[in-house]
Amino acid sequence: MEFILDTADIDAVKQLDELLTIDGVTTNPSIITRSGKQPEQVIKEFVEYLLPDQKFFVQVVSTDYQKMLEEARYICGLRPENTYVKIPVTRNGYKAIKQLKSEGLGVLATAIYSADEAFLAAMNGADYLAPYVNRMCNYGDGIGQVFDLMQMLETHGLNSKILAASFKNTEQVHALISAGIDAVTLPPDIVYTMMDHPGTKIAVDEFSVAWREAYSRDTLLE
Ligand code: E4P
Repeated sequence: MEFILDTADIDAVKQLDELLTIDGVTTNPSIITRSGKQPEQVIKEFVEYLLPDQKFFVQVVSTDYQKMLEEARYICGLRPENTYVKIPVTRNGYKAIKQLKSEGLGVLATAIYSADEAFLAAMNGADYLAPYVNRMCNYGDGIGQVFDLMQMLETHGLNSKILAASFKNTEQVHALISAGIDAVTLPPDIVYTMMDHPGTKIAVDEFSVAWREAYSRDTLLE
């Protein structure tokens, strides 16, 4: 499974990259605007920082078909490998996905609200499908829709990977990881929540106190 960070905060990525195995970074226009930086700056920071085998996903902003293609070619030209353009599944988006895949570019179909949208993008050859899990939950059974999508891809032998996105709590993440999802992209705060069960700190404090009381020091080695 691929574990991706959903953020434009380079410092947050650097910090988590030291702690965990991070397979890449996703951004979208809203995430980039929230960074308070210019988009060129955000993109440059990640292009310079990410290792060649870490993936970078950048979304087109234009909604016009030709302009989407121009932005997509620009994005994929930023790094020689492992850069994917995110294309929302609008009418122009489906058309752009077909065209960009015919050019051999890496494509993630995004802003997906249903298994059907994702399935059609998979038929167009999208490498990744990004169902917006929490937003789908606002319309109904978002987790169930992703389960359906997993089954639909399997049944029809489609190779697109599901990169589940738009999580708002760890229960949503847990449900999809348990089910064998291909990839998740998570905001740093959700990653920290997954990492930090309060019981762990209590247990470690207990070990330290017992050790200090018995041996008057805080280390194994004197
Ligand atoms: C990632 O690729 C998506 O753009 C992102 O997860 C959407 O998250 P949001 O629903 O919090 O905007």
